[in-house]
Amino acid sequence: MSWTYQKIGHMFRNVSSVSRSTPVAAPRRPQAPSTAALPRRLYRSSVGKKAVMAVTGGILVLFLVGHMLGNLKVFLGRADFDHYAHWLRTIGEPALPHRVFLTIMEAVLTVAVILHMWSAVSLARRARQARPVRYAVRPKAQEHRYATHVMRYGGIIILLFVIWHLLDLTFGVVNPKSGGAEPYDKVVADFDPSRWYITVFYVIAVVMVGLHLKHGLWSAFQTLGWGRQRRYRGLHLFADVVAALLVIGFVAVPVMVTIGVVK
Ligand code: HEM
Repeated sequence: MSWTYQKIGHMFRNVSSVSRSTPVAAPRRPQAPSTAALPRRLYRSSVGKKAVMAVTGGILVLFLVGHMLGNLKVFLGRADFDHYAHWLRTIGEPALPHRVFLTIMEAVLTVAVILHMWSAVSLARRARQARPVRYAVRPKAQEHRYATHVMRYGGIIILLFVIWHLLDLTFGVVNPKSGGAEPYDKVVADFDPSRWYITVFYVIAVVMVGLHLKHGLWSAFQTLGWGRQRRYRGLHLFADVVAALLVIGFVAVPVMVTIGVVK
């Protein structure tokens, strides 16, 4: 049978190469699923989307830890802080041209943020479609709603904050100093006591980052099936401590500038 199909297919190909005015479709043999489609199929599954959320979330947390530690250099003085900012632009030199490493890092962060949000939205949509009728009141319903709000609206606030933050401290568009000013001068001018409301805004945004991280880690533990085990309490504590350290480390800079410790 398959021999006949091959023969016929071959004949059809020959005929169509002679006369293209009468196209005749050759019978197709069933094809095995292509391996190229595998990542797409995996991503379409809920497990795949959760894995994407975990990996991209991990990349963002690594960035945040590095960024927070770098920011703390402000306490070592102007020269150290500006030197650190300059070093960021020269990583990999002379093997890599100036600022290439930083540009790659920015591209990876942008893709990570987009994939993280995309997966979150499609997982939420899938959960809604799977359960069109809401649960009746459950003991954990209140807690669940709070976590959903923290992740959803908190995520939007964080995104808006990052846009503002880039316009402020990277490009200098909304900073009292111009974009070309040294990073130390931009930070000190930004959180000047007269601009206390900017500090308040940063503190709120960073607390949202901390809550988002805490709940994100908790839900990753649940996904991994560790939610009911005894070690979950330890992991819970670990998530709380990481989030708290990050919040304290980040808010220290704007607060200390506003109260005049850093000037
Ligand atoms: C609250 C205290 C923070 C301070 C004082 C601070 C300070 C800065 C400064 C000075 C820069 C410019 C670096 C440079 O041009 O060399 C920067 C860039 C940046 N910050 Fe922050 N930051 C803070 C919090 C955050 C948070 C919470 C996030 C994320 C949620 C964040 C995300 C970024 C990003 C994405 C960049 C651009 C990195 C790049 O140069 O490509 N920052 N920050």
